[in-house]
Amino acid sequence: MDRYAVIGHPIGHSKSPRIHAAFAAQVGHQLTYSAIGAPRAGFAAACLQFIARGGRGLNVTVPFKLDAMAFVDVLDPLAEQAQAVNTIVVARDGRLEGYNTDGIGLVRDLTTNLGCALEGARLLIVGAGGAVRGIVAPLLGTGIAELRIVNRTRATAEMLVAAFNTPYFALHEGDDRPFDVVLNATSAGLTGDGIDLPEGAADGRTFAYDLSYGAAARPFLAWAKAAGAKGVADGLGMLVEQAAESFRLWRGVLPDTAPVIRMLDMERTA
Ligand code: ATR
Repeated sequence: MDRYAVIGHPIGHSKSPRIHAAFAAQVGHQLTYSAIGAPRAGFAAACLQFIARGGRGLNVTVPFKLDAMAFVDVLDPLAEQAQAVNTIVVARDGRLEGYNTDGIGLVRDLTTNLGCALEGARLLIVGAGGAVRGIVAPLLGTGIAELRIVNRTRATAEMLVAAFNTPYFALHEGDDRPFDVVLNATSAGLTGDGIDLPEGAADGRTFAYDLSYGAAARPFLAWAKAAGAKGVADGLGMLVEQAAESFRLWRGVLPDTAPVIRMLDMERTA
């Protein structure tokens, strides 16, 4: 039976094993998917051991997405732009291919699941950390009119804008009209810290989306609701969609995500 796993530190709370088990059952593939908690300095050793025992693919999560980039033999352009690998494919010839499916996952969740039209839309990203690098190129590829970014540490956002070097992606200077979509990609909700959100960025035209899910997304989504946002969502759908894209890379078939998102959503409201 083909073996897959997610590797991270810590790994106990990962939903990936359940998501991939549900995908496998849905499409009738026989496979196993486990969780590997590797020590911080032990990423490569844990991966090599898994692959030596017949592992066909890995998902990579915090804090190893950079290590994974150095580990693979071939880097997909999206992973290169993201400067992070979240999916490793063990190719037939044994070469290790590195991909990043986060941006594709976000775009599919926004457009397919949430009905958020991106073509011609004006988007604002709040935050400029590792999570943002992976979503910029896929967002720019959807035909959006413009992408603005704001970050607590301005210099980090400036560096990101410079790295992409396109007129469609620029710093938010605070004097724009409200945005069609505002994305929270900060880790403020995870740490429980307050976050300074740009005044006037959201109104009744705005769809607000937090890349994290559950309690971590609540403060940002509450801000958006208070600003009158027409819709809000957390990143549960993105989590499932990025997993689906990994599954497609490994198994050649894109599973139906809707029942899996519904299952996870029902569990948290139960
Ligand atoms: P990730 O991989 O989740 O993106 P990261 O690379 O550590 O994590 O980035 C965290 C992001 O959240 C950064 O943009 C950070 O802002 P700084 O660049 O100023 O550090 C942002 N962030 C974290 N806590 C925040 C807070 N309380 N208010 C605003 N932004 C915050």
